[in-house]
Amino acid sequence: MDGRDLVHSMKAVGSAGAAQGFRTVRAAWRRRRADATGLPSRGVERARVPGAVREAEPGPGGGLLRFGRSELRILVTVNGAVFWGWDGAGPEPSYALAGQCPEPDPRAVLEPDKDGGWRVVAERVTVVVSRHGGIEVQTPGGVLLRRDLPPRWWEPVEGGPARWMQRSEVPADARFFGLGGRASGPRLRDGVYRLWNTDPGGSFGPGDDPLYVTMPVQLVVADAATHLVFHDTSWDGTVTLREGEEGAGSGHDRAGTSELRMEGGALRCWVMVGTPARVLMAWAALTGAPALPPAWALGHQHARWGFGSEREVRRIVSGYQERGLPLDAVHLDIDHLDGHQVFTVDRDRFPKLPGLAEDLRRDGVRLVSIVDPAVKAAPGNAVYDSGTVEDAFVRDASGRVVRGVVWPGEAVFPDFTHARVRAWWGRRYEERLAEGFSGFWHDMNEPTSFAAFGETTLPRSARHALEGRGGDHREAHNVYALCMARAAYEGLRELTPGQRPFVFSRSGWAGMQRYGGTWSGDVGTGWPGLRASLSLVLGLGLCGVPYSGPDVGGYDGSPSPELFLRWFQLGAYLPLFRTHASLRAGRREPWEFGPEVLEHARVALVERRRLLPYFMTLAHLARRTGAPYVRPLWWHAPEDRGLRECEDAFLLGDALLVAPVLEPGADRRAVQLPRGRWYDTVTGRAYEGPGQVLVDAPLSRIPVLARAGSVLPVRGADGGVELEVWAPARGRTGMGLMVADAGDGWEEPETERYVSRWEGRRVVVGREGEDGVGEPSHPVRVRGLAEGERQM
Ligand code: GLC
Repeated sequence: MDGRDLVHSMKAVGSAGAAQGFRTVRAAWRRRRADATGLPSRGVERARVPGAVREAEPGPGGGLLRFGRSELRILVTVNGAVFWGWDGAGPEPSYALAGQCPEPDPRAVLEPDKDGGWRVVAERVTVVVSRHGGIEVQTPGGVLLRRDLPPRWWEPVEGGPARWMQRSEVPADARFFGLGGRASGPRLRDGVYRLWNTDPGGSFGPGDDPLYVTMPVQLVVADAATHLVFHDTSWDGTVTLREGEEGAGSGHDRAGTSELRMEGGALRCWVMVGTPARVLMAWAALTGAPALPPAWALGHQHARWGFGSEREVRRIVSGYQERGLPLDAVHLDIDHLDGHQVFTVDRDRFPKLPGLAEDLRRDGVRLVSIVDPAVKAAPGNAVYDSGTVEDAFVRDASGRVVRGVVWPGEAVFPDFTHARVRAWWGRRYEERLAEGFSGFWHDMNEPTSFAAFGETTLPRSARHALEGRGGDHREAHNVYALCMARAAYEGLRELTPGQRPFVFSRSGWAGMQRYGGTWSGDVGTGWPGLRASLSLVLGLGLCGVPYSGPDVGGYDGSPSPELFLRWFQLGAYLPLFRTHASLRAGRREPWEFGPEVLEHARVALVERRRLLPYFMTLAHLARRTGAPYVRPLWWHAPEDRGLRECEDAFLLGDALLVAPVLEPGADRRAVQLPRGRWYDTVTGRAYEGPGQVLVDAPLSRIPVLARAGSVLPVRGADGGVELEVWAPARGRTGMGLMVADAGDGWEEPETERYVSRWEGRRVVVGREGEDGVGEPSHPVRVRGLAEGERQM
C-alpha cells in the first residue's frame, strides 16, 4: 500500500467506520483477483515500425499510404483540421467527436514529395510524410511546427492490444499546455503526465498528477504558430514532455519533445493549426460546442459536505440574505441522501425537500444535487433493482456484476458506454427534478471505488459495452464520466425540454464540454492549492472545456481569513464560482472569517453579479467559437514570449485582465501587460503595455484591468443592462459584444456589436447594424476619461 492508498482508505474508514474499512480491503483483493484471471498476460511481444512506403492511394482530402508493415490514412477536413491514423485507423468510432467526422477538403491532395516521401498541401497546413513514416506538420510557409518520428508498436505474439509509442519534436521556443486538468500548470514543464483519470484521495496540491480529468490534448504555442494535437485513444498512457532550448543565435537549438506511450488503442490523431482562437474554434467544431449554462449557474454557488439538514440550509441562505450577499445556488452533498445512496433523500434531515427548493427558488436560489454513479448493491434500493432488471451494471470477465466500495458501502456501477444504460440512467433524474433540484454535480466518476491497496477504480478486466463493440475497463475507464455526463444531459433534455441542463462533473474526457463543465475536485487548502485552482481552469479551457472553477477556500482544513479572501476574489472571476468544503473542514460562509473579510467578499460578490451580462456573453461566445471565458494572457499574442511564461494572471474575455493575489502578505503585485492601454478598473489609472507594471492589490481587491476601448455589458443599478466603456487610447477605436440572453431556454439571442471611438474630446459609442452605426440599445457609461474629456 503506498501513501496515497493509505490516505484513501483512511478517508473511507474515517467516514463510515470500521465496516467500510473492511470492505475496502475485501474490494482490493477482489479487484486483484479479477484482474489476475480476467486479463490476458501480455507474454512475448514483437516490436514493429512502419517500414518503407510502398504505394499511395490518393482519396478525398488526402489518402492512404501503404508502408511495409502499416498503413497510414490522412484526411484534411473542411474546417482545416488534419487527421491521420496508423494501421489504417479512421476517425470513427470516437468518444470525442461531436457527430460524424467532418467532410474531407476536396482541395487537399496527396502528392509525391522529395526522397520518396509524400505530402498533403492544405490551406492552413502542409503535412509531409517521409519514406519511413515520419510526419511533419508545417505552416503554409513551410515552417516546421511538429515532427512525429515513425511510431513504434509492441504486439503480444499471442494477440491482444498493441502498446505504442510516438515521439514528436516541436520548435525550441514552444511551450506545452493542456492534457486536461493539471495542478502544476498551466504551462506544462518537463515531466511525465499520466493519462488515467484518478481521484488522488484526500486532497491534492500542485505536485499531484494525474487528477480527475486527463485528456490526450496538447496545445503547443510557438513563434511560428499554435497547434493543438489530440491523440484519439482513451487507453492508459503517459506523455513525457521536455521543453526545447534555444542556442542564443548559435544555430544550435534543441527541439522540445513530447513522447506519448499508450497501453493500447488506435494510433490516430488530429492536428489543428493557426492562432489560439482559430485552433480552439476548430477543436469545438470537431468535438462539440460547449453547453450553454443557465444564467443562474454563472452566479455565486455555495456548497459543503455536511450542511446536514433543511434547517441548516435555511439558516445559511438567510445568512446570505441578511448580509446583502448575492447567492444563486446551494449544493447538497451526499449527506442529504439516505445512507449516501444516489437518487434518495434522508427524510429525517430533509423532510420537505421540494418545499425547501420552492422557497429558495422564490428568493432566486437554486438547489443543485450531487449525483454519484455508484449504486448501493442492496435489493430494495430502487435504483439497484431497476438497474438489475435493465442489466445496467458493469460485469467482470466471467459475467458476474462487479462490486466496489463507495460512500454507500458495497456498490455496483452502471455501464454508461451502453446507449440503453444511458437512457435508463437519464430517466433517474426525474426523481431529482421532483425533489426540486435544478442542477447536477457528478462526482466519484473516474470512476472511484475505494480500495485498501492497488488502484481505486474498477478492475481493468471489467467488461464494457463500448457502444456494442465490447471491451474492457482499460479502454472504458477514461470515458466513463464523459458517458455519464451524456446520460444526464440527454435525460434532462427529455425531462425538461425547455431548460438548459446544468451538469458539471468531476471527471471527464475530450468532448465533455458538450454536456457541461467540471470543477477542481478536492483541491488542498493552502496557497499552493489556490495557484493550482487557476492552473486547472486555464488548462481545461485550452482543452475546450470552458466552464470550471475551484472549491473556493480549498476542500479541506481551514483557510486563514486572508487565504479565503484571496481565493474568493479569484473565484469571482472564474466561470464556476463555488465555495465548497469537506465534512470535517472549517466553514466557508464569508461571514465566518471576520468583518473585514465579509466586507471585501461582499464587494467581490456584488461585482460578480454586476458582471453577469458579460459572463453570459462569454458563455455564448464559448458556445459559438470554442474560446474559453478564461484565457491565458498570450491568447491574442502567442508570439509574445514574456506572456507565454506568465502563469499568474489571465484574460476574462477580451476586455478584462485579472491578476489574482496568490501569495500571503501582498498589498501590490507585478502584472505583465499585453500590448495596449489598460485601466485599473478601481482607480481608473491607465497603464501602457507591453511590459510589467506594479499595481496596488490591497486586501480589499485583486487588480482587474480593462482594455482601452472595450465595451462590456454589465448590470446597472436598476437591474437592466448598461454598457461600460473604457476610453480608447487617443486615435484608436475599440469594441465589445453583448448577447442578450433570456437566462434559460433555447431561443437564439441577438448579438449586439458595439464600437467605441473618439470624436473630438468626446468618446462615442455606437451599435453596428446592417445599415451602419446607430444608437446603443442600453445606457452607456464611459470610464477612463481624463479631466476635460466627455462621454458621447
Ligand atoms: C468527493 C468530492 C467532494 C465531495 C465528497 C463527498 O470527495 O470531490 O466534492 O464533497 O466527495 O461527496
